[in-house]
Amino acid sequence: RTYDVLVIGSANADLTVRVDRRPGAGETVHGTDLVESAGGKGANQAAAAARLGARTALLARVGDDAYGELLLAAQREAGTEVRHVLVEAGARTGTALIVVGPDGDNSIVVSPGANDRLTPEDVTSARETVAASAVLSLQLEIPPATVRAAVAVARETGTRVVLNPSPTPDRLDHELLAAADPLVVNEHEARQLSGLTDGTPALWARALRDRGARSVVVTLGGDGALALEHADAEPVTVPGTAVKAVDTTGAGDAFTGALAVRLAAGTPLVAAARFAVRVGAASVTKAGAQPSYPTLAELPPAPGLSA
Ligand code: RIB
Ligand code: NA
Repeated sequence: RTYDVLVIGSANADLTVRVDRRPGAGETVHGTDLVESAGGKGANQAAAAARLGARTALLARVGDDAYGELLLAAQREAGTEVRHVLVEAGARTGTALIVVGPDGDNSIVVSPGANDRLTPEDVTSARETVAASAVLSLQLEIPPATVRAAVAVARETGTRVVLNPSPTPDRLDHELLAAADPLVVNEHEARQLSGLTDGTPALWARALRDRGARSVVVTLGGDGALALEHADAEPVTVPGTAVKAVDTTGAGDAFTGALAVRLAAGTPLVAAARFAVRVGAASVTKAGAQPSYPTLAELPPAPGLSA
């Protein structure tokens, strides 16, 4: 196939301020100077994959404003095919207002802008590109009907779907769940979608597979990830890499993009998750989402391997 990874999803300009302490309701605090950088869950996954050297394409919508140009420039620099990044006249590019605390943890408010104008027709028009891609990576920052259309086209073209159901809905369509191979969820999403408030990552993963996901990966932040393959496979824990967290924004997207790259190359899920944990860890050591994503050469060596 022509592409390893096709991402259909959101593109946002990330407007980030760091604070010592988060404001409560009605409170004002001072932060650092504003930083504008390339983000959005879809664009992040594409940038992560392209920077790792995968043949990557992105289908997204941006506005005809300066942020749209920033996002296009970032994708071109990463090496992504941007033929399907559509510029919507008169729309604002999606924007994320991000506050990063002292531990590198973040709070995000997204204003969707042009992301809301990505239609099912945009997806069906790009059918050839879906067919030409080994893996289709999806998230939920675009209209649900568009995600459903993407899943339907991928089923027809035999393209493997990686689904990160983020931001998390209260419940997920069975069609989406059944397409996910794997479903990639963080702990919060795993609890929410499995309906199990207690339990362990292994239990959540099994519950999500029982509900229809073909395979499941639960990301565990600094503790790595848990991967559950098809059918009767047992869950496997992938340990984390100890790093000093500067900014965790977009770490999950770096993980998912990297996972998609290895799955496209035919790597089994657990080994792909090991690689993705390293890429996610590298991304949290630098500020921002896309600006922090490593190339293969920049990736620290795998733990346990002698230099
Ligand atoms: O997952 C991180 C991303 O979420 C940010 O880049 C922001 O744009 C929001 O979409
Ligand atoms: Na980062």
